[in-house]
Amino acid sequence: MKIRVGIDAMAVAVPRRYIDIEDLARARGVEPAKYTQGLGAREMAVAEPGEDTVSLAAEAARRALAAAQLPNSQLGLLVVGTETGVDHSKPVASYVHGLLDLPRSMRVYDTQHACYGGTAGLMTALEWIASGASGGKSALVVCADIARYGIATAGEPTQGAGAVAMVIGRNPAMLEVDIGVSGTSSTHVHDFWRPLGMREAQVDGHYSVQCYLDALAGAYRAWKTRALERDVIHGGGIASEQLARICYHVPFCKMAKKAHLHVRKCDLEDAQRPWDAAAEEKHGAASFAEQVEPSLVACARVGNVYTGSLYLSLAGLLESQSYALAGRRIGLFSYGSGCTSEFFSGVVGPRAHERVAAAPIAEVLAGRERITVPEYERIMGLTAPLDALPRPGGFRFTGVTEHRRQYSRA
Ligand code: CAA
Repeated sequence: MKIRVGIDAMAVAVPRRYIDIEDLARARGVEPAKYTQGLGAREMAVAEPGEDTVSLAAEAARRALAAAQLPNSQLGLLVVGTETGVDHSKPVASYVHGLLDLPRSMRVYDTQHACYGGTAGLMTALEWIASGASGGKSALVVCADIARYGIATAGEPTQGAGAVAMVIGRNPAMLEVDIGVSGTSSTHVHDFWRPLGMREAQVDGHYSVQCYLDALAGAYRAWKTRALERDVIHGGGIASEQLARICYHVPFCKMAKKAHLHVRKCDLEDAQRPWDAAAEEKHGAASFAEQVEPSLVACARVGNVYTGSLYLSLAGLLESQSYALAGRRIGLFSYGSGCTSEFFSGVVGPRAHERVAAAPIAEVLAGRERITVPEYERIMGLTAPLDALPRPGGFRFTGVTEHRRQYSRA
């Protein structure tokens, strides 16, 4: 009998502060339309040192477990995907495990490959459950990161921070993943990386966009082959149109548009349709508006969350369209610079709306405070926690004692 596995609950955590992207543009002497239309940004989350990867991950995980109403004793695996960990040895997952008082019997570790790390954790969890190795237990997968390029760099308006936690289990309420139907593509490139000891990422911006698109073409075509073999989609026409929505990795929202147009170009080439640029401009824009744009609302208000960006896009999509999408198949594309990537798919569950209502993103975003650009610049320079004003219920890094990181909970 087929085991149905997927995402049973999701929750998001973001920093308490954000800046308006138009304020940032004006402060940098840039036409605001470059950031709003050119990059598709609206707001950018600003994490201060008290809101590190651990505190964001723990907060998202706490909310996801509450939404799933799952007893901790049912968990057998905790994986945190991150590229902004807090220690060379002790994983973020270990801190989260302790802060949430999770069972000793669990497997607990981090996964890293740039923005793909969370997907690595998700795939492990799905296949662990589908194989029967979990013995009926569920998994907790958390994607948490702080995206940082530095003041007045080209990457500055594409920073952000946050965490997305997912409870993975059988008979999932939110998204049943098509196990074994995924496509991957990897190449050794230096498009984006962060050498040991550096807080800010190194990036070859325009090259990274091309690396993303090349990886997407490979992963999408590999997914399509598997999906056709397994009757997940049928042949002929524009294959991507058989997906009700597609969520992409979102380093900045405009990237998702470039990605979607590239997927359509692959489809047209594969179907050996003649390329009509004028017609495709019209059809591509309409298809983007229907298939992708609804998933970008939350991303535009947070910025890049590296490992969490694809899942913030998914959570945002389900928050606004879970009723309309129930029973329909969507596609997901995960990209990790360096690079590796995966295109996969799943069917939205009939009870997704219940889980959305139990952990709404709108509530998380509404609880934030807008700050000025000088305040943001001051926070970027800090190395110690800013103040002792945690969000009610939130976790917080408070300092280091004898090389041990300390956390508190309000
Ligand atoms: N009004 C409207 N649009 C404007 C404009 C204006 N006044 N001025 C410029 N634009 C448009 C440009 O035409 C351009 O649009 P297109 O890409 O559609 O042509 C867009 O604004 C950006 O302009 P530039 O390309 O000139 O911007 P830039 O060179 O300053 O920086 C960037 C863009 C390279 C993406 C930079 O923000 C960056 O390095 N970001 C970080 C790297 C990144 O996110 N890479 C993505 C792929 S890698 C990945 O996905 C992993 C990850 O998470 C990092």
